[in-house]
Amino acid sequence: MTPTEKTLLRALKGETAMPPPIWLMRQAGRYLPEYRAIRVKAKNFLELCLTPELAVEVTLQPIRRYGFDAAILFSDILVVPHALGQRVWFEEGVGPRLEPLQRSQDLARLSVDGLHETLAPVYETLRRLRVELPEQTALIGFAGAPWTVASYMIEGATSKDFAAAKTWAYRAPDEFALIIDLLVESTSDYLIAQVEAGAEVLQLFDSWAGVWPEAALRRWCLEPAAEIIRRVKVVHPDVPVILFPRGVGALYEVFAGEAGAEGLGLDTTVPLAWAREHLQGSVALQGNLDPLLLVAGGAAMDQAVVRILDTLGAGPFIFNLGHGITPETPPEHVERLISQVRAWRPGT
Ligand code: CP3
Repeated sequence: MTPTEKTLLRALKGETAMPPPIWLMRQAGRYLPEYRAIRVKAKNFLELCLTPELAVEVTLQPIRRYGFDAAILFSDILVVPHALGQRVWFEEGVGPRLEPLQRSQDLARLSVDGLHETLAPVYETLRRLRVELPEQTALIGFAGAPWTVASYMIEGATSKDFAAAKTWAYRAPDEFALIIDLLVESTSDYLIAQVEAGAEVLQLFDSWAGVWPEAALRRWCLEPAAEIIRRVKVVHPDVPVILFPRGVGALYEVFAGEAGAEGLGLDTTVPLAWAREHLQGSVALQGNLDPLLLVAGGAAMDQAVVRILDTLGAGPFIFNLGHGITPETPPEHVERLISQVRAWRPGT
């Protein structure tokens, strides 16, 4: 260990950093007035993600304001279907929309051939960030995990029950596997290119993993994530990966043991003492403050933060939320959260 090594990288090597590193999912976004000011300069959200000058600026905003220990590339998980040739757009006040895949023939319209060309601006954003970030700040690249991305590709939007995607997987698993395989291939190549452009850590978001029974969860979430991590590590064995299989409950243990990730992102519902006992021995843990406690602030937030730190802070740990920050978050609550985490010591 070199004394100047970035704390996020230390935690992902299994070390206990004191105080633990902190960053927040969606730390760049609409809760920041400076984000809203840049947002109106882009024609649409995808253009914001794919214009390096703007994406670099938006990535740096929360670093300048708060001095987080890590910056996460500003982009979106849906740039991958866009780069595969699917129509993707973002509707104000509604969220992401895609022209949905409805039958296996629709897959023929998608191709990995243009992937790196379409995503070249993302790589440029990462290269510029490595130059601009403070030396203690780690740079996180990311992608959506295959199931979560496939769910948007099939449903065409955020869904309540994922009926179209899940029914497809149950009725025609061989066809569904073609979509997942295409995403395993493109996501692996995309993440490898992100590392080559300067990403030091990768996070894989499986935001909708929690909708499956165990056997399907293993087949459509665990196996594809493990395969992506394997492929990335063939080329870049030392790059740490954080996997966020949101909502998988007791099956977090299977992800800790079998996915091959150095870090596991805990959602808000995971019991802290259980996580310490069953997960923290094999992986670094990240999480899991309820984003709505960050909106509420006050004593409720303070107590929850201390509980998380007291339970998980003595092992390899990264402070984060249990899901992304919401637009209603008062920026001063984030300030308070960071000073609380930085002031914490075991047994205080
Ligand atoms: O964390 C960061 O600061 C990096 C940027 C980032 C965004 N999306 C920016 C964004 C990251 C890591 C994501 C990941 C993402 N995108 C996920 C996985 C994490 C999660 O939240 O579960 C998912 C499911 C998506 C898909 C997506 N993109 C949705 C559902 C939405 C709409 C919800 C919303 O907040 O509006 C988006 C849009 C989006 N992605 C915004 C931002 C800042 C808001 C768009 C805007 O500014 O108009």
